[in-house]
Amino acid sequence: MHTLILFFFGLVALVADASPTPSANHPSRTIEKRSARTANPGSCLEVQGTSPSYSQYSTLAFAVAALGSGTTSKCISMWPGTYTERVMIQYGGALSIYGYSVNTGIQADNQVTISVGKNYSSYSSYSRVVLSRVDGKLDASSALHLYGDNYSVWNINIKNTYGAGAQAVAVTSTGNYIAMYACGIYGYQDTLYAKSGYQYYSRCYVEGADDFIFGNAAAWFGDCTIACNGGGSITANNRASASDPAWYIFDTSTITAASGWTTTAANYLGQPWGIYSRVIFQKCNLAVGATPIYEEYENTGAGSATTSRLYETTATAAVTYSTLWGGSSSWADLTF
Ligand SMILES: *[C@@H]1O[C@H](CO)[C@@H](O)[C@H](O)[C@H]1NC(C)=O
Ligand SMILES: *[C@@H]1O[C@H](CO)[C@@H](O)[C@H](O)[C@H]1NC(C)=O
Repeated sequence: MHTLILFFFGLVALVADASPTPSANHPSRTIEKRSARTANPGSCLEVQGTSPSYSQYSTLAFAVAALGSGTTSKCISMWPGTYTERVMIQYGGALSIYGYSVNTGIQADNQVTISVGKNYSSYSSYSRVVLSRVDGKLDASSALHLYGDNYSVWNINIKNTYGAGAQAVAVTSTGNYIAMYACGIYGYQDTLYAKSGYQYYSRCYVEGADDFIFGNAAAWFGDCTIACNGGGSITANNRASASDPAWYIFDTSTITAASGWTTTAANYLGQPWGIYSRVIFQKCNLAVGATPIYEEYENTGAGSATTSRLYETTATAAVTYSTLWGGSSSWADLTF
């Protein structure tokens, strides 16, 4: 039985951790090195920013445009580099996007970055350019908007460098069966809009200060590092009703401070976006001083003791993939 905490937030005094690599935080769970992916893994469209050949695209947006309007499964392979662009993907079939990596298991080794910030565009001095096909400024501010079903993204960092002072999203995921593997998602306020559908995040690094994982998805975060770079609320789950499957599951993940964030500050594990908001931290490693909200189950770390919780919600079991998503989870690579 999982119940909800609606209004009370715990205080987390976070200590800076210069090493966001998950393996250091989970001695009991090895985040091993994996093989390299330094060539086109199939017949993927290729993105090469610096010196594209005749058959390559210089930006991700050009490759996405070349996907066309079909529904067959397709893939895009990106070469190392920083791509300063804002991309919205609405392809009608399954799509995989691969970043070049010498070690696909570790996000810290990623070499492909998609980044927007205050001055990314020649036609605006701000990062907030409204896209015509989507209502709402949150989605429109994203560096990468995955707007469709059956998309997976591997070994790519996505950044919105706007910083403090505005809702500036790095990634919006709107759709079913969206998976991100060893991706880095960087922002400050509203970093990752896990907006709707079933979603899987494995070995990802998500950084922000306030409401930086938010939305209405049924999202599983496994072996991820969630890093605060300022004070605020980590999650803002927006489950809409008592029957809404939306839920954020943080499983064997690390909640910590971002590199460079040395000031002790007030951070909250979450604030409810609506009264049905639902989040669980299970088998996680919580930062020193953590007094989290929502549910907790079998966590470790100096902040995991629950004796001083003011409004603790007790979970009697860990949430499973099938509890979260129902039915089949074959769309996600659960071995990653
Ligand atoms: C998307 O994935 C689901 C679940 O695996 C599958 O049933 C469906 O056929 C897929 N759709 C496309 C267009 O690939
Ligand atoms: C953005 O452009 C403005 C106006 O040209 C400039 O003052 C500012 O320093 C730029 N910011 C960044 C991050 O480059």
